[in-house]
Amino acid sequence: MTILVTGGAGFIGANFIIDWLQSDGESIVNLDKLTYAGNLRNLASVEDDGRYAFIRGDIGDRALISRLLTRHKPRAVINFAAESHVDRSIYFAEDFIQTNIVGAFRFLDAVSGYWGELPVEEKAGFRFLHVSTDEVYGSLEPDDPAFTEANRYEPNSPYSASKAAADHLVRAFHRTYGLPVLTTNCSNNYGPFQFPEKLIPLFIHNALAEKPLPVYGDGRQVRDWLYVRDHCNAVKRALKAGSAGEVYNIGGLNERTNLEVAHALCDILDEMRPRTNGDSYNSLIALVQDRPGHDRRYAVDASKIQRELGWKPAETFETGIRKTVTWYLENQDWVTAITNADYRNWIEKQYQ
Ligand code: NAD
Ligand code: DAU
Repeated sequence: MTILVTGGAGFIGANFIIDWLQSDGESIVNLDKLTYAGNLRNLASVEDDGRYAFIRGDIGDRALISRLLTRHKPRAVINFAAESHVDRSIYFAEDFIQTNIVGAFRFLDAVSGYWGELPVEEKAGFRFLHVSTDEVYGSLEPDDPAFTEANRYEPNSPYSASKAAADHLVRAFHRTYGLPVLTTNCSNNYGPFQFPEKLIPLFIHNALAEKPLPVYGDGRQVRDWLYVRDHCNAVKRALKAGSAGEVYNIGGLNERTNLEVAHALCDILDEMRPRTNGDSYNSLIALVQDRPGHDRRYAVDASKIQRELGWKPAETFETGIRKTVTWYLENQDWVTAITNADYRNWIEKQYQ
């Protein structure tokens, strides 16, 4: 038995593959285009595992996908591949449309064709799991209830709009062709291997380099933080026990403002790696120009996956953030290797 994952060289996909091979015997094929966000170093610990295979390629390459499916005969596929950074989508929306919509459609189409030819009993057990985001539901006011699976789609960035479009296609392939799909809509992840363009790894990286920690706007936007391994476990639960055609929201039950996150990081760094000048890292926090269209608050009601599939997060924000800071402190060579000229160009463009 084999499963095929896409985007497995990125942050969540790599954590998923490592976790999968540690806890399960099944072989896993990773298809990844290796964009700036894809990094095979993330998978160094599993590259010699006989159950793991890597193929470089694009989810939008129908012929390649069909060949892979015929060759590896997966019993399930998980689509992690996407352009994932909201700020980049504001400058380069086209890349997001290509991968997150056109690529997702072609991938769905190729998988649907493969699934249609499977023997009856394999067809019933097959799953197409699409990894999506809570951002498709838009933005909440401070006292609004958390997003449920029944919330209206109201995406506000080119990124979230592209993810919303893919979610609709996934749903349509189920309703029209019967493809046994699952969609998961997850809140903000953090943990090992996250590219230092996202809030938490960027702030750790900047703090250690004695650079400002750029908090957008008033810093009172709220995100619901989930440790990445908890997300991986939720995806595994959905794959194993989820009902075809269903949507599952996944959240950390950890709402924090961005300023609270920044202070928490600074306090842990003060303890673990005090600055040589004796100041607190908190003095590096700087309010900067806001992100256009910045969503004010996300919060996820994860009661459906808790109730129906028995999943709940193992980490609190306090335990997960400590593990994360520790990982970055112990893996500075990983950070150094990816903060190359392309990375520096992006940071200069974004924070000039
Ligand atoms: P990431 O940017 O770290 O990794 C994305 C991976 O996809 C990279 O390895 C990249 O090379 C690959 N990729 C991009 N375009 C591709 C293409 N056309 N074909 C094949 N591979 C391609 O992203 P992430 O943070 O790991 O997110 C993974 C998925 O989870 C995404 O679908 C994202 O929308 C979703 N998600 C992320 C979060 C989060 O907080 N990071 C939360 C909820 C949902
Ligand atoms: O909610 C799930 C989503 O979470 C995923 O779908 C996305 O792929 C993922 O990137 C993430 O999106 P966000 O935009 O919420 O994450 P980001 O880390 O970019 O920003 C988190 C918050 O911090 C957000 O309110 C913007 C703010 N921020 C971010 C950066 C990079 C800052 O204040 N300063 C920064 O420099």
